[in-house]
Amino acid sequence: MNSNWNIFKHKLRVGRFFLLGITILISLLIFVSPSPTQPSERIKITVMMQALEATQWEPLEARFEKENPDIDLVIVKAPNATNLVEDLYTSAFILGDSPYDLAYLDMVWLPKFAAAGWLRDLNEFISPEELEAFLPGDVAGGIFKGGLYRMPFRSDGGMLYYRTDMLEENGYEPPNTFEELVTIAEDLQAKGVAKWGFVWQGKQYEGLPAMFIEVLEGFGAYWINADSLEVGLDSGDAIAAVEFLRNTVQKGISPPGVTTYAEEESRRLFEAGETVFLRNWPYVAVLAADSGIAGKYGLKPMVHREGYSSSACQGGWGLGITSSSPHPEEAWRVIEFVSSEDNQRQFTIETGYIPSLRSLYNDPTIVATYPHYPQLLEVVENATLRPPIVQYAQASDILQRYLSAALTDTMTSEQAMKAAASETRSLLAVP
Ligand code: GLC
Repeated sequence: MNSNWNIFKHKLRVGRFFLLGITILISLLIFVSPSPTQPSERIKITVMMQALEATQWEPLEARFEKENPDIDLVIVKAPNATNLVEDLYTSAFILGDSPYDLAYLDMVWLPKFAAAGWLRDLNEFISPEELEAFLPGDVAGGIFKGGLYRMPFRSDGGMLYYRTDMLEENGYEPPNTFEELVTIAEDLQAKGVAKWGFVWQGKQYEGLPAMFIEVLEGFGAYWINADSLEVGLDSGDAIAAVEFLRNTVQKGISPPGVTTYAEEESRRLFEAGETVFLRNWPYVAVLAADSGIAGKYGLKPMVHREGYSSSACQGGWGLGITSSSPHPEEAWRVIEFVSSEDNQRQFTIETGYIPSLRSLYNDPTIVATYPHYPQLLEVVENATLRPPIVQYAQASDILQRYLSAALTDTMTSEQAMKAAASETRSLLAVP
């Protein structure tokens, strides 16, 4: 019994030594050997954006990572339609498992995202004086209840493209009014100069209200007054604005398919030489330079009704830091980097998107590449915001549905706008 006990104690001691040895060995392996997980010690900053733009960001991303070797900037690709990207961010934030440190935001999402508490106030990182270098409309699009939730990166403004060759050869000046646009379009179509007169974004998605507010403004009408929450969609002028678009479809000035076109479909038709006029954003001016119509087009602010003035829809994208990000300092380093003059200049030259820094519109290097840039400043400085209200997504959805019904002849313009106005009023009446 005694000897058995001694053997047992001996085994126990040997066992303890053995366990101790293994523990020391494991600790040494962990602390001394080079860790195979070392690369992931770089802090990962994740952002999601439209696939087209994610590709265009690649050189910018490479420059950022070269200068910031401790950060791994991960860009997740999303569909190109702005509302689909908004839905993806929204579900990630609502489910509470968002992998995003940064949100790349269309300005129309801002009030909803800020009100929901999904974004961090950036006032802790930047002063009002520093913000003065940016376009005021783009900065305004990032402010909600005094907080700054989005740093503008690239601006946007809708405009009218026209074929300089077709107009000149037929003795026309670029149009200023809706009436002139229609006259020129019909004449050039009748002469067989172009198949279509005017192409725009008529699909039921966010691009439709963006285009429509330019026509509304040109008719002296409005959508929603963001301060008083009054709705102007059922005014006579607003109905006339819808009638103008509907007529372009019914008279064959616009192709029947225009009610299914987003930006890219309409751009392709213009570049294929099939239309005299196109409504689109500034990025087309650069892409079309590589097409069959190179050197044969110009751009100008959107037309308006006689006696009224035109306005571009204010668009644009910027970066916000998500409230859930564990790395706000590193996320800000990304924002700071892409906002700098050098990086905005290079991104502009690489892509043709228009910068949020005001000085760059007259920058010698940019103007040498894109002589039309000083003219774009005029367009973006006269831009109109879509109503910056928390319920924007629902208001836009209502307008999209009824506009689409009018354009596809399911309802008259008057029926559609009366129904849109009343639904919008009910939406805004709910606290
Ligand atoms: C452009 C604009 C954006 C707008 C969208 C509509 O991306 O920058 O503000 O919402 O077009 O399609």
